[in-house]
Amino acid sequence: MAGEEDCAPTLYTREEVQQRNSGKNVWLVIHDRVYDVTSFLEEHPGGEEVLFEQAGGDATESFEDVGHSVDAREMLKQYYVGDLHPDDRKNSAKKHLSSFSPHSSWSTWLIPAVAVLVLGFMYRLYTADSRSS
Ligand code: HEM
Repeated sequence: MAGEEDCAPTLYTREEVQQRNSGKNVWLVIHDRVYDVTSFLEEHPGGEEVLFEQAGGDATESFEDVGHSVDAREMLKQYYVGDLHPDDRKNSAKKHLSSFSPHSSWSTWLIPAVAVLVLGFMYRLYTADSRSS
């Protein structure tokens, strides 16, 4: 059923996207948008296997890792069927936060540690200097 809907986008949950992957049907999510790439499988220059691997899941990372061209991004529009449900979009925001915090605690620890080492070294140089003169 290929309806021509130009109005508000249909919303799909991650569960629904997974359920659409039966037989040769492949749906995937890229940047919180849902794509039905079933008719594109054989045409994909990167092969159908990689699309099967991402079937029903979030393919954003692998899509971006490949560094797809502007043409490839334009092609996405042809297979767009709707948006990911807002409740399911929060996952990516959470992931972003949790990957950010270990990094920031690491750098806030490293900078004072280096500062202490440099100050200690300068202090030793200074005291050695004043002893010799
Ligand atoms: C609907 C989604 C996708 C579309 C429309 C698409 C389209 C394309 C196009 C047009 C190319 C040719 C090179 C370019 O223009 O950038 C390409 C190459 C490629 N794609 Fe995709 N792609 C999609 C999803 C994916 C996904 C999810 C992966 C997962 C790994 C993937 C992996 C690759 C690889 C590895 C190549 C390189 C092939 C080569 O250079 O030999 N693609 N894709």
